[in-house]
Amino acid sequence: MDWQTILATRNARMKASEIRELLKLLDQPDIISFAGGIPDPALFPTQQIQEAYADVFASGAHDTALQYSASEGYKPLREWICAEMAKLGVPCSIDNILITSGSQQALDYLGKLLLSPKDTALVGWPTYLGALGAFNAYEPEYDRLHPNGNRTAADYMETAGEKGGRVKLAYMSVDFANPTGISMDRAERDAILNLADEMDIAIVEDAAYQSLRYDGEAIPPILALEIERKGSIEDCRTIYTGSFSKTLSPGLRVGWVCAATPVISQLVLMKQASDLHSPSINQMVISDVAHKHFDAHIAVTRAAYMERRDHMLAALEKYMPEGVDWTRPEGGMFVWLTLPKGIDGAELLEKSIETQRVAFVPGQAFFADGSGANTIRLSFSKSNGDAIDEGIKRLASLL
Ligand SMILES: Cc1ncc(COP(=O)(O)O)c(C=O)c1O
Repeated sequence: MDWQTILATRNARMKASEIRELLKLLDQPDIISFAGGIPDPALFPTQQIQEAYADVFASGAHDTALQYSASEGYKPLREWICAEMAKLGVPCSIDNILITSGSQQALDYLGKLLLSPKDTALVGWPTYLGALGAFNAYEPEYDRLHPNGNRTAADYMETAGEKGGRVKLAYMSVDFANPTGISMDRAERDAILNLADEMDIAIVEDAAYQSLRYDGEAIPPILALEIERKGSIEDCRTIYTGSFSKTLSPGLRVGWVCAATPVISQLVLMKQASDLHSPSINQMVISDVAHKHFDAHIAVTRAAYMERRDHMLAALEKYMPEGVDWTRPEGGMFVWLTLPKGIDGAELLEKSIETQRVAFVPGQAFFADGSGANTIRLSFSKSNGDAIDEGIKRLASLL
């Protein structure tokens, strides 16, 4: 059977992720990999998670844990998230929180919620590849978001109109973005809010790395800045997506959306239609570990990643030839390199694996318009100091 003839049009935009394909190839032990961008398993709170699962059964809570449950999510977990959001300047109630299967599911739902075919999503050039993957299924157009740039709301709206739809959302990762590692400053966050108000669009604020700050001053999330302006989350257009993947465990697949109740209610309907609810037992375990151990655990995680970040920045400084630029992130997992024009990140990767046994992610896939060939993403999250030093030295020699 020729499946191509009956596939829905949305499939045309759904492509294999370069990163996922790459991850499959990188099991060889002699490769120094800066490609993954995933947490170091040595930093998982393994024992605490093990105890939390045991407690579910020992306490008799398994009847609930193994049963169907509410689409909104496990109440004590939503309460813990509310308290954390309040610390970030986002006072809200559990009615403003939906638990999702990772924040990736939230991005899919938000695409489904907001984007009709030909509508425009404003995204950074580059942006998180997984957001493009999630939105692509809804057949949008993309336009480049310049946070403090020279484009006006009228300009964005006119471009979207020419493409046959309207601007619906601006997506961004404000802290230690994937792939660049950089954060939006206060002025940029304010400018995005002004722009979104003018265009009457949603802001999708992806906070996947929010807790992983190593130095510098924390800047309030856009949602907090909007609440400052408007008084209540109920009057806000910002939809915040959070995740336990980078702090506790990505394998348990627990994330959340924090937004005005009409948004949450609509997302709950979507969740009912999609997977009913995220796994009850995983939500209970994450809730238990978060209540008892989050702050202590995140302090250890931050210290470990900060040291690796410092190693990588020092190695880049020491070995990279002139003409190579890189970001200096205050948190997260990534450093972003801009290579001299004419060097292609994908070709470099091939040579690097073959001759240097060093892996990274070519940057082009993170650009909705296919530009950025001379960029690459390096992750420092999974390598120790010696491997970082050696890997950067080899990469620099190739360059
Ligand atoms: C910026 C960003 N958002 C969202 C996600 C999805 O994470 P999860 O679904 O595990 O919460 C990732 C994962 O790498 C990410 O880098």
